[in-house]
Amino acid sequence: MTELVWRGKYLDGRRVEPSREPSPITPRERHGEGPGEPDLLIEGDRCVALASLLPTHAAGFQAVYIDPPFDTGGRFEATRRLDDGATLRRHAYRDTWGAGLDAYLAFMSDTLVLLRDLLAPDGALFVHCDWRANAYLRVLLDELFGASCFRNEIAWRRAPNLGRQAASRQLGRTLDTIFVYSKTAGAAFRGEAPRRSDAVALDARGQPAGAKWDEARGAFFTTAPRGDYTDASIARLREEGRVHDAASGRVAIKYFLRRGDDGRWYKDQPIDALWDDAEVRPLRHCPKREDMGYDTQKPEGLLARILRWATRPGDRVLDCFSGSGTTAAVAAQLDRRWVAVDVGEAAIATTRRRLVSLPAPRPWMLATVGPGARPVTRRARATRTPAGDEVTVTLTDFEVAGEASGLPPVAHWSSWIDYWLIDAAHDGGVFHARRRVVRAAKEALPLAATFAARGRVVVRVVDVLGEEATVELSE
Ligand SMILES: C[S@@+](CC[C@H](N)C(=O)[O-])C[C@H]1O[C@@H](n2cnc3c(N)ncnc32)[C@H](O)[C@@H]1O
Repeated sequence: MTELVWRGKYLDGRRVEPSREPSPITPRERHGEGPGEPDLLIEGDRCVALASLLPTHAAGFQAVYIDPPFDTGGRFEATRRLDDGATLRRHAYRDTWGAGLDAYLAFMSDTLVLLRDLLAPDGALFVHCDWRANAYLRVLLDELFGASCFRNEIAWRRAPNLGRQAASRQLGRTLDTIFVYSKTAGAAFRGEAPRRSDAVALDARGQPAGAKWDEARGAFFTTAPRGDYTDASIARLREEGRVHDAASGRVAIKYFLRRGDDGRWYKDQPIDALWDDAEVRPLRHCPKREDMGYDTQKPEGLLARILRWATRPGDRVLDCFSGSGTTAAVAAQLDRRWVAVDVGEAAIATTRRRLVSLPAPRPWMLATVGPGARPVTRRARATRTPAGDEVTVTLTDFEVAGEASGLPPVAHWSSWIDYWLIDAAHDGGVFHARRRVVRAAKEALPLAATFAARGRVVVRVVDVLGEEATVELSE
């Protein structure tokens, strides 16, 4: 057998296994209304969280996507621009490994062993990595999942071929690798096969260049040679109106263009494992509003393609290296259930903020696994005033205890606040964010809100670092 061995893989001749001892998953905050188990954003180490999911979610995820540290040796940051123009930079995570590749491989092996147990029999695993560790991870994945479960090695264009590397004699390292494994050999992907959709350039007449018009279909088409289509297949395609008889007498196959909602003509086609089209464009070419300022963030288009391919609405998706929360945000928008885990405070703060600003999400829960709650270092003040059948809550102050708050100086304390949440019918249990007060683009954060309230009202004010203060307002 060919095997990848690292120092620490075996102890007394037995493969070292990660602990499967579950720890309590402690809920901290509930969002959204509606029945059913909430989706989960878990703050904590990936193995502690994964082991804790096993009792309830073993073989329960139809897709697992991970974008772990790549063994870059780098340090990564999260950047925020505050209301008053100040920029806040904070540490996000370190990708350094004291014991080098041995430590990295032990970390990845432990993670993958637990993920395998959480993957459904017809589930698919996506492991995002790059040239630094992809050779090792491929061998490790073959060992853990079986070479017969290997499905694809996707090359995704992470960045345009520009800059220092492009100018050097070395070829630009602009591609990432995404390995795809199924839990069971031969299991079909549950969703729709990915297709790419490219806008077709227009010619001088304003028509799609190189395309012909099909009167019967009312659409433009391009053609390709018949290739290895048999005569029987050509006869079938002819019945479907998909054969073009060229003036030369040659037979060609028609590929119809699709008119997009934006009025442009698009060419849809099945894709292979080279992903460099517009739908999965690098983050720097995506709309600015998508950029959460988190180093190593992946674009939503990439995750949307993966999740549409591997899952159906209602399926469960797991990502134990959530970062800025791309997987959770896309899963929520595509009506998939999700669990996202990250150990970093900046990652959890970013994912939480991202989910809070989604319109009407299905219920989700912020939870912690492992070491308990951090000390509370913020204090807020608010007033509650009756307003007809409703109440108005007004934030009147937000304070930081101690010098080392991590917050930059600002003219008014409201610039520190990211958003605030209201539990308008607090039942004494987990804080339930029934209402959210967020900034509209380019506008100041509202400091007052009026709403119908029953009994106890609890307000949670969250600052730009994800730190919070909770205030109870009695009647
Ligand atoms: C490459 S980033 C993920 C980026 C993410 N895909 C996105 O789109 O924003 C890797 C993440 O792994 C997290 N991480 C590192 N070690 C971890 C651990 N032991 N448990 C959980 N998360 C960890 C880091 O905090 C970081 O957010």
